[in-house]
Amino acid sequence: MTTILDRLDIQGNILLPYGRSSYPLARHFIFHVRDQEEAQKFLSWIQPQITTAQFFPSKRSAQMQIPEDQLRKDTPEALLNIAFTASGLKALGVPNSVLRQFPDAFLDGMWERAEMLNDNRLDWNNAWKDDQHEQTTHLIISLRVAFNSCLKKVCLRRGDSFSKSDYHCQETFKLARSMMIKNLDQESRRLLDQAELHRLVALTGHSSADPESKWLECESLFRSRLQDLAIAGISDDQYLDDLDNQKKRRYVASSAELTDLRYSEYEHFGFFDGIGDPVFDGQYPAAFQAEMAQGQGHLSCGQWRPIAPGEFLLGYPNEAQETTCHPMPYTFSKNGTFMAVRKLEQNVTAFHNALVKQTPLMEHWLDQVECSSSSEQPSAASQFTKALKVLRAKLVGRWDDGTPLVHAPTYESWLSFRVRLLTLAGEARKGGPSAKEAWEQFKTKFTRFTFESDDTKGRRCPFAAHIRRSNPRDSGDPSLRNDSDPSETSQASSLLVNRRRILRRGMTYGSPSELMNENPIDHDSSISADSERGTFFVAICADLARQFEFMQQQWLNYGSDFNLGNDICPIAGALHPSVASDRKSTKVMISSEGPDGSCTLPFVAKPTPQPVVCRGGAYFFVPSLSAIRLLAENRF
Ligand code: HEM
Repeated sequence: MTTILDRLDIQGNILLPYGRSSYPLARHFIFHVRDQEEAQKFLSWIQPQITTAQFFPSKRSAQMQIPEDQLRKDTPEALLNIAFTASGLKALGVPNSVLRQFPDAFLDGMWERAEMLNDNRLDWNNAWKDDQHEQTTHLIISLRVAFNSCLKKVCLRRGDSFSKSDYHCQETFKLARSMMIKNLDQESRRLLDQAELHRLVALTGHSSADPESKWLECESLFRSRLQDLAIAGISDDQYLDDLDNQKKRRYVASSAELTDLRYSEYEHFGFFDGIGDPVFDGQYPAAFQAEMAQGQGHLSCGQWRPIAPGEFLLGYPNEAQETTCHPMPYTFSKNGTFMAVRKLEQNVTAFHNALVKQTPLMEHWLDQVECSSSSEQPSAASQFTKALKVLRAKLVGRWDDGTPLVHAPTYESWLSFRVRLLTLAGEARKGGPSAKEAWEQFKTKFTRFTFESDDTKGRRCPFAAHIRRSNPRDSGDPSLRNDSDPSETSQASSLLVNRRRILRRGMTYGSPSELMNENPIDHDSSISADSERGTFFVAICADLARQFEFMQQQWLNYGSDFNLGNDICPIAGALHPSVASDRKSTKVMISSEGPDGSCTLPFVAKPTPQPVVCRGGAYFFVPSLSAIRLLAENRF
C-alpha cells in the first residue's frame, strides 16, 4: 500500500529536488534570535510564505500525471524554506522536556561533532563558528528564485514566443539572469527588513573574501551546450536546428559563434551531479515512484522498490519498521526531519593539477591493458584527453556526463553509450511512443545498476570511487557469496545501505574555474583560479548519526568497509586534522580486465590528499508547517 503524505504540511525541499536549472539561484541566511517573542512574530509572518511539498505545474508534474486538484495553481516565482538548530529551538522557547527527546547528534550540533567528522574548526568561516554566544546559529532560511519565468518575460518583451527548446543565446540568457538577480535582491531585502524588525541578527562572515556579507549565495553553473557535445566529440542535429531557429528569429547574428547558454547540473570539478537520489514511499505518485525507484530504492531479491518513508521523515515507519525518534508532542515532530548543511570548498586547481601530473602514467597503463592491435595511431592530444577522462571517471565512478562506469567501463564504451543516448533522444523527439519508450528505458541506465552483482571485483568501478563509497548498493550483501554464481544475482539486496541513505539537496557556490571550461564562455563575474568555490552541501535524513555521519565518517573518511585501510574518498573524504599535514597522499587502486577477462596489473592513482575542505556547517531540524505554527504560538 502506498503511503499518502500530507504534502501541505511538509516543507518542499524535503520531497522535491527543486531542480538546479529551474531555480538556479539561491541565498542562504543564518540568523541569531535575540528576543523570543519577536522571533515568534517573525515566524507568524514567514509561515504562509514557506514552500510546501505540494506539486506545482511543470514538465515533471505533467509526466507524473498529477491530478489538477492536487497541483498548486501557479509555479512559484520564489521558494522559501526554514530550519532550526537545537539552540534555535531553545531560543524560541521549546521546553527542555521536549528538547531532551531529540537525538544527541542534533542536540550536540555540528560544531561540537566537527572532530568526529575530521573537520578542522580553524578552517571554518565566522558565520558558522559556534564559539560566541551572540554568534550562535539559530535558524537558516533558504531563498531560491525561478529562471524560466524571467526567460519567458525576456522573450515576450521581444515580441517572440517562449521557446521550450530551453537553449538560449548568451544575450537572452544574460537578460533573464539579471532579471532573476533583481527578483532575488527584492526578496532578500524584504526578508532582512522583517528579520531586523523582529530583532533577528543576520550572521555575517560567510566567506573570507566578503566578511560583511549577510548570506551565502549559490548559483548553478552555466555551460554552453557545445561543452556537453564536446565531451563525446559529436554533433547533434537538434542543437544545430535550435541554433538555426535562433538565427532566424534574429536572437543571434547569422555569423554568430555557437554560444548558447543554459544552467546545468555540473559541479565545480566538472562532473554532472545530482543523479543518484533515494526514492521513498509517498514521495511521488505510485506508478512514477515505482519507475524512479529502479536503482535508487530498496533492492530485495533483485527487485527495486521505494525506501520506507521513515528513513527521511519523522513519524513514519523506517526500514526497520520502527519510527525514527519522534519527540512529543507528535504534531511537533511528525512530517519534520533533520538536515546536515556543510559549506564544502573545492580546490579545483589542486585537484586538476594532481590528475594532470599522473595522466602520462595512466596513458602508459592504458596502453598495456588495452594491448591495442589497431594500426591507426591516435594523436598525442587525444591520448592525453582519454587518459585524463579515464582517471577522473575512476575517482567518481561516473564519466564527466554522469554515465556510470558499471555500464561503460572503458573510454570507447563511454563514447558508444553517448552516441546511443543521443541517437535514442533524437528518435524519441521525432518518433512515436515506442521510440519514446526506448529512450526512457535507456535513461534508467544512469541509476539502475548494482556493484556486487555487476562488478564484484571492482574492475569497472573501483571500490574507492566516490559513488561506490557513498552508496555501495548491493555490496556486502550477506546473501551473495563472493564467488557469485550468476544465478544468485537475481537475489541481490541492498541490505547494507538501506539505513544509510541521504537526500542530497545542495548547490554550487562561487564562479566556475577556467580549468573546467573546455569551451570558455563569457561569464560576467571575474574568474580566477584562486576564487572561492565549492558546494553548499545539504543532506536530509531522519537520523543524522545513522545516515549522514555514518556515511561521512565510515565510508568517506575511512576505507575499512571496502578493504581500503584508511584511504579517504578521493572526492569528499577528509583526513583527521592531526594527520592532514603529514599525509601527502591517499590512493585509489584502479583495476581492469584484460580482453580474456583476466585481471591486469592495477594502476595506483594518487589524487590530491583532500580536494574538499569544510568551511562550516550545522545540523538543523526541518519542521512541518504545523510545528512552525506551534513554535510561533509557543503552544507546548
Ligand atoms: C564538494 C564535495 C562533493 C562533490 C564534488 C561530490 C560530487 C559527486 C558526484 C559528481 C556524484 C555523482 C553524481 C550522482 O550520482 O549524483 C556524487 C554522488 C553522490 N555523493 Fe557526492 N560529492 C561531494 C560531497 C559528498 C558528501 C560530503 C557526501 C556524503 C556525506 C556525498 C554523497 C554522495 C552520494 C550519496 C551520492 C550518490 C551516490 C549514488 O546514489 O549512486 N557527496 N557526488
